[in-house]
Amino acid sequence: MTKLSNYPTKDPVLVTCGLPYASGQMHIGHLRTYVPADVFVRLLKKMQTDVVFICGSDTHGTPVLTTAEAEGLTPKETYEKYNKHYLETFPRLNIDFDNYATTDDPENHARTIQIVKELQKNGYIYAKELETPYCETCGRSQPDRFVRGTCPYCGADARGDECDQGCGRYIEPGLIIDPRCVVCGNPTIPVTRTHYFLKLSAFEDFLKEYLEQVDGTKNAKNYALGWVKEGLKDWCITRDLDWGVKFPGAEDLVLYVWVDAPIGYMSSTEIWAKKIGKPKEWEKYWKPGKGRLVHYIGQDIVYHHCIFWPSMLKGSGYNLPFAIVASGMVKVEGHKFSRSRGYLVWILEDYLDRGLDPDYLRYYMASYTSQTKDLDFSWETYADKVNNELVATIGNFLYRGIHFTHKHFKVVPKGTLDESLRKEIESSIATIISAVNEYELKKAADEILRLASIGNNYFQSQEPWRLIKEDKAKAGDVLFNALALAKALAIFIEPFMPVVAEKVWSQLGFEPATIHDATLEDALVPLEVGAKLGKPKPVISKIEDDQLEDLKRIIKDRVKAADAKQKGKVKIDLAPIKETISFDDFQKIDLRAGKILKCEKVEGKDRLLKIEVDIGTEKRTMVTGLGHLYKTEELEGLTALFLVNLEPKKIGGIESHGMILAIERADKEGAWVPVKLDKIPPGSKAA
Ligand code: 2FM
Ligand code: ZN
Repeated sequence: MTKLSNYPTKDPVLVTCGLPYASGQMHIGHLRTYVPADVFVRLLKKMQTDVVFICGSDTHGTPVLTTAEAEGLTPKETYEKYNKHYLETFPRLNIDFDNYATTDDPENHARTIQIVKELQKNGYIYAKELETPYCETCGRSQPDRFVRGTCPYCGADARGDECDQGCGRYIEPGLIIDPRCVVCGNPTIPVTRTHYFLKLSAFEDFLKEYLEQVDGTKNAKNYALGWVKEGLKDWCITRDLDWGVKFPGAEDLVLYVWVDAPIGYMSSTEIWAKKIGKPKEWEKYWKPGKGRLVHYIGQDIVYHHCIFWPSMLKGSGYNLPFAIVASGMVKVEGHKFSRSRGYLVWILEDYLDRGLDPDYLRYYMASYTSQTKDLDFSWETYADKVNNELVATIGNFLYRGIHFTHKHFKVVPKGTLDESLRKEIESSIATIISAVNEYELKKAADEILRLASIGNNYFQSQEPWRLIKEDKAKAGDVLFNALALAKALAIFIEPFMPVVAEKVWSQLGFEPATIHDATLEDALVPLEVGAKLGKPKPVISKIEDDQLEDLKRIIKDRVKAADAKQKGKVKIDLAPIKETISFDDFQKIDLRAGKILKCEKVEGKDRLLKIEVDIGTEKRTMVTGLGHLYKTEELEGLTALFLVNLEPKKIGGIESHGMILAIERADKEGAWVPVKLDKIPPGSKAA
């Protein structure tokens, strides 16, 4: 059921966007949240709600460290480089934050330490020994993105702290299976040291209650409630790195980046408050009270925002998020967004630097689909939306109405607002308000198109070009009404296309920048009779066929180049060859073909399978770690190569008498996968 009434509100609202890692250039994936959040903020302003829009760069953690290593920069140089890029690029997209800070600002270090100390004081943090990956070749601990391995939940190739290729779940330190160092490619070894944990389990009851009532999109709430119901594990909040916010009490550890990153929302607000000369103003949002925090995020970081973050806030006595709005992900030309495969769009190189209009991209991102669904970006759809929705529907009506009036009257002609048109504008306002309440901007965009179509139909059916010859006063009345609709449309499109709206506003005779202060209610007030109109000009331009072909070529070429690179990359990605062994040593190895007679799962171990193997001379029990790749029935009956003179070893509580040999190789994405086993007669000896 549609719920109304959260907005407009007299309560102050603070909107944030997930802080981008300052470790790479802005791409279309980023815009899936930044654009809707900016549109949402502008709509709230049009509803006369007091709103602040906060963001900043996420500067810590292994995303920044891996980029720093790849680019030969220090971590600070890295984040400064990309922070500058973000600071320059957001305004070019008309994404207008009240403050954009970084998580390395002293305010963020201080606030993070304050919150962690408060959590310690309240008994929510404890120490525990933990085994985490250490790379002997690189000579250091390799947490999070410094390793790749197998996801313990779904078996996909995954980053150390996140299953980025599979189920998307957060992975606690020490849980990734078969970790390999991403720097040198070698397997890491586990080392034990003391880490610090946040007692998430203590927040389960609180979270259940909190999440039931939190506003925002259903995907965020429902996923998070599901996780809480499954039971939460305590969260390791420290890392063995020297880049980040030092953990108070054990300064050789830093806090996991997901501790200080969301606190960046708070410290960026503090910086904003100082900037406007009201240093206490941040408390209005962050101390318990009437302030409403609305977080726009991607659905890949729901766990962090719905589980970690409210627990940290609750445990340290701060205000809780009022709403979590989680967007679906971005696809490019129908494919999963992928840097390595070339399915991506860079905001500078592919879009802005080609002179393409930022407002058209904003419109695409906010109007293509529901907030919670995946958004497919394709240049074909882009051209279609620009040409058919923006040019042929909205632009056409605006230009016809303003141009015709300007030509025959120069000023706003005398007229009375038609009752049915007034009702249509009222209905548009109501729909836009309900779209804001549902965090569904597509609904508002569709309504704008509907109103523009009404405008086109009105103009067409009233035939002002005929009336102007037969009854100029009647023609004036029609144009007065057309201009009233144009004014309403200018106000409604401003949140989506602020610069296009300024141009329309100026043609309607206003100071362009004042469109940003016009409210939804102003859309019901027709233009003043006799007011001078500006010079009419089409405000949106068509994407021509040859331009579209050029644009389509960008991705095609990039995918081709990525394919070529991947083909040549397999060799580079293979693990280094181990130390040479003597022939005598080799002869000690007894390799035989064996037929798998029976295969069953080892209880409670996703990856382990117990197999009965006929090795010709006898039948053996062995345990393999291929459970995440094969169904039991797939292995039964299969013949493969086995190491049969390996000393027996207990795996998953079962004694294993030998080892199946599966070949691993890097696949196209650089992930390590076993190759299917071939059929050969049991007992055959390896050559
Ligand atoms: O996933 C990311 O890109 C993170 N940098 C988002 C951080 S959001 C917030 F918590 F800071
Ligand atoms: Zn997974």
